[in-house]
Amino acid sequence: CGIVGVTGVGNALPYLLRGLEKLEYRGYDSAGVYLANPDGTDFLVKEKGRVSALVAEAQAQGVYGTAGIAHTRWATHGNVSVENAHPQASSDHRFHLVHNGVIENYQELQGQYLADVTFASQTDTEIAVQLVDKFAKEEQLSTRDAFAKMISLLDGNSAYGFLLMDSQEPDTLYVAKKKSPLLIGVSDHGNAVTSDAAAMLDMTADFIELMDGDIALVKPNSVEIFGADGQAVDRKPFHLDIDPAQTDKGAYPYYMLKEIDEQAVVARTLAGHYFNDEGEIVGIGCGIGDTIKQADRLYIIAAGTSYHAGLVGKRYFENWANIPTEVHIASEFAYDQPLLSEHPFFIFLSQSGETADSREVLDNIKRQGFPTLTIANVMNSTLTREADFALPVLAGPEIAVASTKAYTAQIIVQAILAYSLGDVELDLKQELAKVAVEIQAITDEKMTFQAIAESALQNQHSAFYIGRGMDAAVALEAALKLKEISYIQTEGFAAGELKHGTISLIEEGTPVFALLTQAKTAGLLRGEVAQVAARGANTITISSKSLARPDDAYVLPEVDELLMPLLAVIPAQLIAYYATLARGLDVDRPRNLAKSVTVQ
Ligand code: G6P
Repeated sequence: CGIVGVTGVGNALPYLLRGLEKLEYRGYDSAGVYLANPDGTDFLVKEKGRVSALVAEAQAQGVYGTAGIAHTRWATHGNVSVENAHPQASSDHRFHLVHNGVIENYQELQGQYLADVTFASQTDTEIAVQLVDKFAKEEQLSTRDAFAKMISLLDGNSAYGFLLMDSQEPDTLYVAKKKSPLLIGVSDHGNAVTSDAAAMLDMTADFIELMDGDIALVKPNSVEIFGADGQAVDRKPFHLDIDPAQTDKGAYPYYMLKEIDEQAVVARTLAGHYFNDEGEIVGIGCGIGDTIKQADRLYIIAAGTSYHAGLVGKRYFENWANIPTEVHIASEFAYDQPLLSEHPFFIFLSQSGETADSREVLDNIKRQGFPTLTIANVMNSTLTREADFALPVLAGPEIAVASTKAYTAQIIVQAILAYSLGDVELDLKQELAKVAVEIQAITDEKMTFQAIAESALQNQHSAFYIGRGMDAAVALEAALKLKEISYIQTEGFAAGELKHGTISLIEEGTPVFALLTQAKTAGLLRGEVAQVAARGANTITISSKSLARPDDAYVLPEVDELLMPLLAVIPAQLIAYYATLARGLDVDRPRNLAKSVTVQ
């Protein structure tokens, strides 16, 4: 979910709505805004669906306010409905609250304190705002104290970013956070609160970072922050250098297409950042290398596409740096930690740096005292701040929910790191320059992939990507791309495993995409393609030049075999894009998903 709040800028509404549009990547099930004025008028507008629906409704109703809070939701507790959208209000509508996170003990709190209250929603957030109201009324507490008391009752595992308004103090935003990102934006023409700096860049580029346990009072001309111990603390703002134009999609119809195209530039940027003119690695602090060299095993922890990037990265650490490497899904590792080696080193991979599942593992690992590194696209994010070391992915803002350039960039950073640890024959800097050229060449052939997508996937309800070794790792990501945006159920499969059960799903015309870039297993994979073709599959083989056969659907240019995932994934990204476009779906914002999932 995404949160914004604004006070002291004249009419807060346009800032809040623009902010929500920028935050939609955190969820877009529903959205809402609450606005208040010194004359006592206030407004609450909530809509199901996209932020655009809220914008239309707020404008139609002509609402305004000198301060306000707003929220875009990714449903956790309570289905998608106007009632469950935020802001949530207390029964008498004195207090309004937006919340990012999950209150684990909300049912207990409801039973203990609010048995007599009639609830308007099924959300854990409503419990929180009703508690504030109860403590303010029945115990005559100030709003700050009632807010602090509510927070003190939350289960230790709860995560929250709260933004509260009291209609009796219409210029004040009450803020609190734990395990959920929140920043205060400061300027000489008003102040703001946001879960992502990018949402407030048209108002300010100066932000104060809040720490877990902080409570803050944000007014038009002042910001007061109280630490977890209740004492006032002074936190200096930092200045953020982001070009707001970078987050625009320019002439592209969708961010996803723009981001696919940007991959060539990102590869060049990374080579330029991590290598000097002599081809030596300069962008990795020696602390990282020295610490990893003491490790007997690497553990890569990630979620979603980043996990798939880790599966590729493992091959670099094992082949180039000679360090055994395991890759784990964060949400599994967090509660089912395997037996660790004696000297483990942890690498967290993340686009956003905010994924709650990965943060949970980082917390656990820090408590166990093991060294940690985060490789993330958003520097200054929680995972980068809290790990011992951080390396940037430098893909630039990624807006489309389906990750593309962050995947290839994470693979490149892992390759560079592994390369820096070993003694590899390859000239990686030069090889990356070649990768950039070839990515460009593939993305220049969009029409080819549009044709493949339209002919192979039209009217299909299921599909497969198969490969072996590194190609099996890419097949997982290729399948995720296609299924998450086109809703065609797609399985990524280790090709040799298909015959052990799943091959029974192959029907006449089922599209099976085969990725064939690894010489050692090319012959076997050809056999597997023949097996599915014999059972009626429509096989579409994407091979690398030296392994190609005349009837392959697409032949990839060639770079070092271990780097082939960087090329093999591009056709899959474009095929997913065009298949989705052909179905008339919103490429950038597939249903039910959020770009950054900050709840477990
Ligand atoms: C969400 C996104 C995925 C992403 C995953 C991990 O589920 O929809 O695209 O891969 O989170 O996110 P991270 O920011 O940690 O890479």
